Amino acid sequence: QDVGVIGFPFSKGQPQPGVRSGPAAIRNAGLIEKIHNLERDVKDYGDLDFEYIADDPPYGLIKNPRNVGAANKKISAAVSNVINDNRLCISLGGDHAMSIGTLHGHATARPDMCVLWIDAHVDINTPLTSMTGNIHGTPVSFVVHELKDYVPVLPGFEWMNTCIHAKDIAFIGVRDIDPGERYIMEKFGLVCYSIHDIDHLGLVEVLKRAMDNVNPNRDRPIHISFDIDALDPLLAQSTGTPVYGGLTFREGMYIVEEVGSTGMVTGIDMVEVNPELGTKFEQNVTVNTAVDVLTAALGKRRHGNIPTGYVLP
Ligand code: ARG
Ligand code: MN
Ligand code: MN
Ligand code: MN
Repeated sequence: QDVGVIGFPFSKGQPQPGVRSGPAAIRNAGLIEKIHNLERDVKDYGDLDFEYIADDPPYGLIKNPRNVGAANKKISAAVSNVINDNRLCISLGGDHAMSIGTLHGHATARPDMCVLWIDAHVDINTPLTSMTGNIHGTPVSFVVHELKDYVPVLPGFEWMNTCIHAKDIAFIGVRDIDPGERYIMEKFGLVCYSIHDIDHLGLVEVLKRAMDNVNPNRDRPIHISFDIDALDPLLAQSTGTPVYGGLTFREGMYIVEEVGSTGMVTGIDMVEVNPELGTKFEQNVTVNTAVDVLTAALGKRRHGNIPTGYVLP
C-alpha cells in the first residue's frame, strides 16, 4: 500500500513547546528516504500549520481548549484526505492531543477501523477527571462513544463527534494510569495490556490477545497510535512524560513488525517526540528510534528484506 506522511507541529495539549519540532526532526533523520528505500510509494503532504487563538482561557482545569479543538478539526480533515487518497497515513507529532483528530479523521474515511494504543499512559482522562489540565492526557475520552455523556463539549470542540466503540481499542505498554482512568477502564470494559501483563504473559501472547480483542477476523483497518513514551526512557528520554520500565527496543520493533505484517494498517501516529528535551545524544536516540518504529511498521524486517525483482534460485 502507498504511504502518505503528514506533520502536525502541535504542542497545545501539554506545556512543553519543543514537541512542535517533532515532525522536522523525524524528517531530518531521513524518514521519507527510508520509506522510499522500502520500495513503497511515499508522498509527503508537508506540515499543517495551526492558527494561534490568543483568547483561550481554560475550561475548568483544561488548558488551551480552543487551540486544541481548532487544530484537531484541521487534523481530522487532513488525515481523512490522505486515507481517501488510498494511502496509509503516517501522522508525525506533536503531542498526543492530536490523536483526537487523527482517530476522528481515520474513522471518517474508514468507519470500521480499530485502534492499538501503544503508550505508557491510557490518555483516557475526561476533561473532568484530568488532574493536570493537559489535553494530551485525555484524547481517548473524546473519541469513545460510550464516554460521550461524560465529556463536556469544550469550546473549540463543537465540530467533534465520537467515532469508535470501547471494544475497538486496546492499550499496550501501560505503566502509569491515574485512579480516575482506572475507574473508566473498569466501568466501560476497556482492554489494557500493561507492562505487568507483558512480563507475565509475554509479548507474543499479549499482542495476539490484543488483536483478538479489537480485530478478531483480522479484516478491519488498524490505527496504531504510538506514543514514544511507551518505550523505555533509555531509548526515549526526549519526551515530556517519560516513565521508567518501558518497552525495550526489541519489544517495540516486534509489535510494529507483527501488526504491520497483517497488511491492515491504514493509520499510524508517532507522537510526543520532543527533540528539545534531554542531551544531544538522547535527542538523537529518541528521534532515530521513532524512525525505526515507523519503518518497521512499514515492512522493514530485521531478518532482511528481499529487493523486488530479485529472483530466488
Ligand atoms: N495521566 C497524565 C495526565 O492526564 C499524563 C498523561 C501523559 N500523556 C501523554 N500523552 N504523554 O496528564
Ligand atoms: Mn504517554
Ligand atoms: Mn500518550
Ligand atoms: Mn517475523
